[in-house]
Formats: sequence, structure tokens, C-alpha cells
Amino acid sequence: MLTGPLHSIISVAFICRQPLTAGINRETTLNRFMRYQTQSPCETTAPVSKLSTIATALGMKDPYTLEHNRRVAIYVRRLAKRIGLNGTAADNIRLGGLLHDIGKIGLSTKVLNNTLDRLSGDMLAEVQLHPLTGARILKDFNVPPAVIDFVLYHHEKMDGTGYPFGLRSGQIPLGAKIIRVADCFDAITTDRPYQQRKSWIEALAILRQLSGTDLSPLLVEAFIADIKEYGLARRPTRFIAFYSPVSARRF
Ligand SMILES: [Fe+2]
Repeated sequence: MLTGPLHSIISVAFICRQPLTAGINRETTLNRFMRYQTQSPCETTAPVSKLSTIATALGMKDPYTLEHNRRVAIYVRRLAKRIGLNGTAADNIRLGGLLHDIGKIGLSTKVLNNTLDRLSGDMLAEVQLHPLTGARILKDFNVPPAVIDFVLYHHEKMDGTGYPFGLRSGQIPLGAKIIRVADCFDAITTDRPYQQRKSWIEALAILRQLSGTDLSPLLVEAFIADIKEYGLARRPTRFIAFYSPVSARRF
């Protein structure tokens, strides 16, 4: 099996040519993914640092998502620390935040450049595959299984109406719930082709509206306290900066 940069580049090429376009059969894709999950893992996987190749490719295709991933990583490490997590648990959540939308490298330019606030059914189905695509990419790398779970489940909601599996509160890993809170906040407070950013005060009010049905109430309150104390994430970050354990560094 190939390893190293060549493997990373081939992985990107493979993902980019996936048929994630209009008319996709979501059920079939889910079944295919579940079959993939049960296959024995690769004997040799690429090191996590090689994921920077995919992150670079994602940034060239979709600069917003690359920066969004970086901001979310900052928020999740702050939130993890605030609720008392440290060591490997905090490191995994931070890496999960950095990688949570890496599956968007598989989205078509039609979806990425969409300016409508509502997506068509086909476009929505395509977007809803990105957690699966992300998990599929990460399985070829030496990423902790917990991090792959965070990426896979970061769009699940407390009331079971999320995707791709419709998990409910107790079934969703804590790391995925933390990423979801930060993901929502950053999406609200930044400009997108289809929406203007809202103020952080408005964004926190929206998080409270989503608390209980979509987001974990405990995490929402901790996140609100953190934003009031430390403000928004603006500091630019690089992928490699996240590769060293957070437990060994200050932020
Ligand atoms: Fe996402």
C-alpha cells in the first residue's frame, strides 16, 4: 500500500472524483459506508501530519471551509478546557474540530458556490454526505478512532433530527456535541455566499434557541460563558500547529 505524500495526493484525487453530485442515492451510500466500517482496517496508514496535504487541497477549492475548520478548532479546544477536559481527550476534540468538515472536499462547485438560503433536495443530499466522506478520508490515516467518530457525528442533533444517522442525545459522542456548538456559532458569525454574518450577541441568542433540541444545553451555557470571557476566534492558525498535543502547549 502506498504511504506518504503520494498516498495523500491519490486520496484527494479519489475523493474529488467521487460521484457526489445531483441524484445521489443516500441510502445506498450509507449502506456502502457501513460495509466499509466493518472491513478490517488498513495495515499501514498514513501519518496524521500528511492530512495537511488534503487540508491544502480543501483550501484551494473552498477557502472558507479551511478557515472555518481552523476557527472551530480554536473554539472547541477552549470549550473542552472550560468543561474540564485535558490530555488525550482534549487533543482528540481539537483535532476533530480541525478536521470536522474535511469531507467537504467532495462537494461540487455548484453546492460550494450556492447563493440560495435553501438548497434543492439533491444539493441537500450531497451536503449531508460530507461527514461520511470525511470519515472515509480519515480511515486511511493514523487518526484516533474517537476523532473519526467526532467527524462522522458532528451534524447529529440532541432530538434525533440530525444527519447522517439521526442519533439522539445519549448516542452522540461528547466531542461531536462540542464541535456542533462551535460549528453553529462560527457559521452564524461569518459571511457565507447565502447569508450575512450576525453579531456574536445575536449568535449566542440563536444558540440558546437551539439548546435542548439541537445542541447540548450544558455545552451551550459553557460556550456562552467562554465567548463572553474570551471573544471570537480570529487568530489565523496552520494545520501543523494542531498536530502537536494541546496538553503540551498553552493557547
Ligand atoms: Fe459539517
